[in-house]
Amino acid sequence: MQGFPHRLEQRPTQAALIDALAAHLEQQLRERLSQAGSVKPLGLATGRTMEPLYAALVRRLSAWNPEDLAGLRAGWCSFNLDEYLGLPAADPRSYRRFMRTHLGDPLQLPDGSMRLPDGTAADGEAAAESYRAALQSAGGIGVQLLGLGSNGHVGFNEPPCGPQSSCRLVTLSPATRQQNAGLFGGDPVAVPAQAITLGLREILMAEDIHLVVTGASKAGILRALLEAEKPDERLPASWLANHRQVCLWADAEALHPS
Ligand code: GLP
Repeated sequence: MQGFPHRLEQRPTQAALIDALAAHLEQQLRERLSQAGSVKPLGLATGRTMEPLYAALVRRLSAWNPEDLAGLRAGWCSFNLDEYLGLPAADPRSYRRFMRTHLGDPLQLPDGSMRLPDGTAADGEAAAESYRAALQSAGGIGVQLLGLGSNGHVGFNEPPCGPQSSCRLVTLSPATRQQNAGLFGGDPVAVPAQAITLGLREILMAEDIHLVVTGASKAGILRALLEAEKPDERLPASWLANHRQVCLWADAEALHPS
């Protein structure tokens, strides 16, 4: 797509890419420390792409001096993109648990400072609406991290999806349940059928977006994204072209498959 991405950071390996992005985010977090009170929440993602990133970030942030680290903890406020509906909060496959394991526990972030949709709610639509309202009253997202689904979804915005879609309850596509079956014993039917996700509307209102794409398994969908002529509901990530501050972080396997 013409003019997309607005910025490209490419590295030969996943390790080099993750290290560069972690360094960049560390810098953004330092800047946020000095502006405490006036910064918008972080927008966080889950998934395999984010695991090494959070590990690298934890290593970097844990090396901060105690005073800065205490300030970081005290001011932490993040909103995740999405959550499965129907898993207990403590289920290791829930995104709430994922965030505690990979970021919250190692950094000792205060309870309640990492927000996610309530995947345990009996009424998923009401839970989506209250999450949308909570994000709105927190001022919307500042820095948003995004992974790319193998069918072109961001968050759980499954195709077809337009830019006005807002935070809602969604039914997951067979492709997504297959993509995420690894944690569910390889069985796509065991993956929850529904989830709550921020919509493209909330994502596109973020100040800065980092789209992170690694590995050969994402090469096909990344190519489709880069070669799309214009944003299209069949490729939800393509609406990122309408945002002015998207940086694509990609390793060579994703960007230049052999
Ligand atoms: C998942 C999540 C997304 C994630 C994406 C990529 O289904 N809903 O938030 O960014 O798909 O996942 P992964 O990084 O595991 O490839």
